[in-house]
Amino acid sequence: MGEKLWESRFKESLDPLANRFNASISFDKRLYPYDIKGSIAHCRMLAKIGVISEQEAEKIIKALYEIKEELDHKMPSLDEYEDIHTFVETRLVEKIGDTGRKLHTARSRNDQIALDMRLFIKDAVKDILSRIKQLQKVLITTAERHLDIIIPGYTHLQRAQPVLLSHYFLAYYEMFQRDKDRFLQTIKRTDVMPLGSAALAGSSFELDRNMVAKELGFKEISRNSIDAVSDRDFLLDFLYSCAVTMMHLSRISEELIIWSSYEFGFVTIPDAYATGSSIMPQKKNPDILELIRGKTGRVYGNLVSLLTVMKGLPLTYNKDMQEDKEPVFDSYDTTRDCLELMKRTLEKLSFNREKIKAALKGGYITATDLAEYLVRKGVPFRTAHRIVGKIVLYAIEKEKELWELSLDELKSFSSVIEEDIYEWLDPIKSVQKREIFGGTGPEHVKKMIKELKKELESQLLLPTGRSL
Ligand code: ARG
Repeated sequence: MGEKLWESRFKESLDPLANRFNASISFDKRLYPYDIKGSIAHCRMLAKIGVISEQEAEKIIKALYEIKEELDHKMPSLDEYEDIHTFVETRLVEKIGDTGRKLHTARSRNDQIALDMRLFIKDAVKDILSRIKQLQKVLITTAERHLDIIIPGYTHLQRAQPVLLSHYFLAYYEMFQRDKDRFLQTIKRTDVMPLGSAALAGSSFELDRNMVAKELGFKEISRNSIDAVSDRDFLLDFLYSCAVTMMHLSRISEELIIWSSYEFGFVTIPDAYATGSSIMPQKKNPDILELIRGKTGRVYGNLVSLLTVMKGLPLTYNKDMQEDKEPVFDSYDTTRDCLELMKRTLEKLSFNREKIKAALKGGYITATDLAEYLVRKGVPFRTAHRIVGKIVLYAIEKEKELWELSLDELKSFSSVIEEDIYEWLDPIKSVQKREIFGGTGPEHVKKMIKELKKELESQLLLPTGRSL
């Protein structure tokens, strides 16, 4: 069992099971780049205010860089240590002896872990943002490449009205645009430097907190030490943002799963993102999309998990809060992978034009156009709706499409119907008539593609990477 940072006050060592139960190293070791980065900034500041000498600071910083390099090179089993803070400090003392023991002056693991998690989230959000952006790019390209495809749009999963396939994909673009906004909000609330709060009460040393914040790239410093070590709202923001992004990914997945079924046959899932059945040789299953849909459950769970951990906690730090890490790491890893896999699937997705075209028949998807035609001829909408309902019933009985009905047949329902009605019954023409801003008209959609491309290019995302 590794040495504890707090063991001098105890007579007995921890029960091995309690030791394992208490330790967080198995999951918080991935925080090492942030822990070391924070320690370096803290150390520089301690030297600046004269708590340690410049030479001591140099020695400590050099050793911290070495520890980072060792871990970058190969992550050893760290199981004997309680947490990443304990490991870094122990290794530091191993390397430079007593000088290493000075680093933790005016710092507690409480403000240290709050700092590490904030640094982690800032990087995670930057990464997610750039992945969402890449996915949006693919959505635009997909929309651009298939401007000629008209699909039946659905409400209640019943054929409703014809829309451009491109319009559909741009709908997803909008969702991800809102997701980015949510993640940017998360960054805003994460960008607060907690170091200097120490355990809960701040420090008796005159720490230069602004210097530390500047060195670590934080916009603000925390204003209340009690809040700073107790606050996990920024993690909840992150978990919520991941949950909503996953919900969107899950909806696209569901759509593509349905569209790839034999019954729909609109799309073919690329082989690289499908699997077979061990018993039914003919099967090709959309497992990757199903898993994206399924993993949405755990990302939701992670949010509920941390909300529940936090709800009953008195101020300030409580060990319960160690339970914040696994949900956060899991939501990050899952959302990141799902964004990447969705992007790759979409890049290679193929559309089956014939099947889609065939689906424009049979659902009377231009019935609304017919009603709108009647309105233009002076019929009140409610009356027009009723007339068209009857025409549809008639067409179903005759097993005909609306556009296959003769003018005489149509006229028998309303005398205002004339030859120009056929302009309104064709799905292609129906789409072309919806050039309203925000509608599915091809000219408008083309304009949107151009605009969204510009919007995406002009968005300066924060640079990724986690340099020390
Ligand atoms: N492993 C701990 C956590 O993740 C670090 C903070 C420990 N603080 C303490 N007072 N024991 O929350």
